[in-house]
Amino acid sequence: MGHRIDQTSPASQYSGYGVIEDVDRVTDLVLRAMSRTPNARLREIMKSFVRHLHAFAREVQLAEAEYDVAIDFLNRIGKATNDAHNEGILFADAVGFSTLVCLLNNGAHSAPQTAAALLGPFWRDNAPLTPDGASIVRSPTPGPALFVTGHIRDPQDRPIPAVDVDIWHSSPVGLYENQDPNQAEMNLRGRLHTGEDGVFHFRSVKPAGYPVPTNGPVGELLRGQFREPYRPAHLHVMGYKPSYKTLITQVFVPDDPFIEKDVVFGVTRKLIGDYRRHDDGEPPSPDVTPPWYTLDYTFVLEPGEAKRPVPPIK
Ligand code: BEZ
Ligand code: FE
Repeated sequence: MGHRIDQTSPASQYSGYGVIEDVDRVTDLVLRAMSRTPNARLREIMKSFVRHLHAFAREVQLAEAEYDVAIDFLNRIGKATNDAHNEGILFADAVGFSTLVCLLNNGAHSAPQTAAALLGPFWRDNAPLTPDGASIVRSPTPGPALFVTGHIRDPQDRPIPAVDVDIWHSSPVGLYENQDPNQAEMNLRGRLHTGEDGVFHFRSVKPAGYPVPTNGPVGELLRGQFREPYRPAHLHVMGYKPSYKTLITQVFVPDDPFIEKDVVFGVTRKLIGDYRRHDDGEPPSPDVTPPWYTLDYTFVLEPGEAKRPVPPIK
């Protein structure tokens, strides 16, 4: 129910809002029809949405055939969405809408240190609880070892203990576990807790960049725009603790060839991590062969409401 429109008001009689005399009147009539919406925020959002939608159609002089393409596109987004794939989020991502909403609600308008990024379609709830320092590699996954140390701190730079930290990322061949029959259930996913010092550690493999799914309508759009469908390599991190605003973010690999052309516009300067390559010296574990990588990154949680998102997939 969390995603449904507020429908609290009973219908009642009211005078009509008029008939359309000419094209210039359409927008006003629609706005009038919606003006009794009792929920003030729904009223404000729909008023602005209709004004902008109508202005857009006017600006491009939308043809009927183009309108048909758009409605068909919308319907196909719905049909392509299921328990394992969310084409609606992918569309929002591919037009920069997810990042825009994310940045409007984080960082510049609240604590500037809190660098958030889009959730993406691959987060799954209930990743296995992982002891501090353990590996989230759950089936053989060839690729350079990666040792991550994460610090979670408040805006006053004090460590935050007992933060629930979700990690998920693609394999070194660029596939999430749920896309790849060669990976075990929940491979490269884990849930950790920060210690008293606000720190968590885990071992994994260095993620690779990957194409977003292109077999649906969003792929069609990308091809129509001559856009490459790739995301630069990254780790996804979510920090959750009651009384803190849940931080959903990503830490990007700086030397990825797509760092400046992320198809979903997720890369902000703050989110480029210092993934260090090690070719010699004592490896962090006897089974590690060079090269291996380390990443040390500090996440800032600001006071606020803790909310776990609705998982885009099961
Ligand atoms: C991701 O990083 O998991 C992702 C984000 C947007 C679209 C596709 C994938
Ligand atoms: Fe991702």
